[in-house]
This record gives sequence, C-alpha cells and structure tokens, in this order.
Amino acid sequence: MLIAQITDTHIRPSGTLAYGVVDTAAHLERAVAHLQALTPRPEVVLVTGDLTDFDRPEEYARFRALTDALPVPLLPIPGNHDSTAGVAAAFPKIAAQAQAGKLNYVVEDFPVRLVMLDSSVAGAPHGELGTRTLSWLDETLSAAPERPALVALHHPPFLTGIRHMDLQNLRDGQALEQVLARHGQVLALICGHVHRTVFTRFAGVPASICPSPAHAVSLDFDPAGEPGFHMEPPGLHLHRFDGGRLVTHLSFIGQYDGPHPFFGPDRTLLG
Ligand SMILES: [Fe+2]
Repeated sequence: MLIAQITDTHIRPSGTLAYGVVDTAAHLERAVAHLQALTPRPEVVLVTGDLTDFDRPEEYARFRALTDALPVPLLPIPGNHDSTAGVAAAFPKIAAQAQAGKLNYVVEDFPVRLVMLDSSVAGAPHGELGTRTLSWLDETLSAAPERPALVALHHPPFLTGIRHMDLQNLRDGQALEQVLARHGQVLALICGHVHRTVFTRFAGVPASICPSPAHAVSLDFDPAGEPGFHMEPPGLHLHRFDGGRLVTHLSFIGQYDGPHPFFGPDRTLLG
C-alpha cells in the first residue's frame, strides 16, 4: 500500500501570491502532476492541514479544483490557517464522518487504518486535541488493536528546534503521548505545520513532519531568529506499507537531471 502525504499548500485566491512571493497554486499543480506520474500510483492522498492560506471559501474551492484530477481519495484535516468549519464545508462527505465535535475521522478501507485528527484551535496558531478528541482516539485504537494504524494531525507534538514554530506546536502532546503508549499498533505519527522534513520518535512511535510542495520554513536554530522561509526544493512524503513495516520516502517535486543508468548494455557497472 502506498500512502501519499501532502501538506501546507496554503492556497490563496486567484491572482495573489503568499507573502507576495509564492504562487502556491502553481506549486500544488506540480505536486498533483507528480503524484499522477508515480508508478504505482498512491492509493490515497492525505492532506495534513493548511490547505488554504486564510480559510476563505474561494481558497477551498481553488484547492478542490486543483486536486480534482486525482483519481484516489483525498483525506484532509484542518491546519491553523484553516478551520474545522471551513474544511467541513469544503468536504461535506468527510464532515459527515466527523467524530467528537471536530473533524476527526477514521478510514477503514485500506490495509492500514488511517486515523485523522483535527488539532486546529479556532483563531489560534497553536494546536490542541482536547479531551474529547483524545478519548475518541483512545477508543478508536482500542476497537481494532490488531489492525496497523497511521495517525495524522497538523501540529507536531514535539519540538523541532525552530523556535517560532515550536511556540505554536501541539499544546497537549503529553496527553497524546499517554494515549499512544497504550496502543502498540500505531505504525507512525505524521504531521505538517513546519514545512520541512523532520523525523523523530514520539511515544515509541516513528514520527515525521512532511515538507510543503511550496515554501519551506527556514532552517534556523537560533532562538532569536526571525521567522522566514526559503524556496527550497518542494516535496511530499510517500509512506509505503509492505504488510509489516511502514517506510517513509521524501519525494522531491520538480525536474531533476536523470535518470542515468548504473549499468551498460553488457550489464557491467559503468566505469
Ligand atoms: Fe503551513
């Protein structure tokens, strides 16, 4: 099973650029083309928040139009630039499955259960799951202890060392840690928000942050560093499940020189 993850697309109204610089719609278009060209194609695409830049209906409509060509299920959760109500209005079929008063839902159609959590807090940049969502997560994981699960949310529950992003991470990470520690079937915890590829371990579970297909938050470990971004190579994550292990690949989006063969026509390594 191949699970694609895109995140932090920050779609804006037509004719406008994010921060006056980034044509986020063009970047999403290239990400969709990249997904379409993969062989085999992913069976599902998870979108871990910040679909839009300012939670405007026209931004969601544009996001939907740009991703319409994807022939596989698209599973969104809200980020801090979105809202629960905004994503729910744009994705009514997803909203119909929502649990515990937020846009939390579980998808059972694949070998890996996809547990999608809404960590958005209305009007605030930080994240919080809250007791209802955490109880729902606990019950959901308890209901199928034998089924491998992937848990997705926008806000990372750990610190990355990039201070201005760490100040707006998941506030109730400790409570999430306690829930995850009670369940052994979680293959990975996947997040967005930081616009960079980051890996760590959380509650004994491999945890990752996926980069944006558009701008990257600058890699700056100076606590006094000014928040900013770089136009690094855009990317997405591909999570491959072989029945036992989940392996995460960073796939860069764009035109790169290659492929070049390792072997000549006589099958010997090229010198
Ligand atoms: Fe973002």
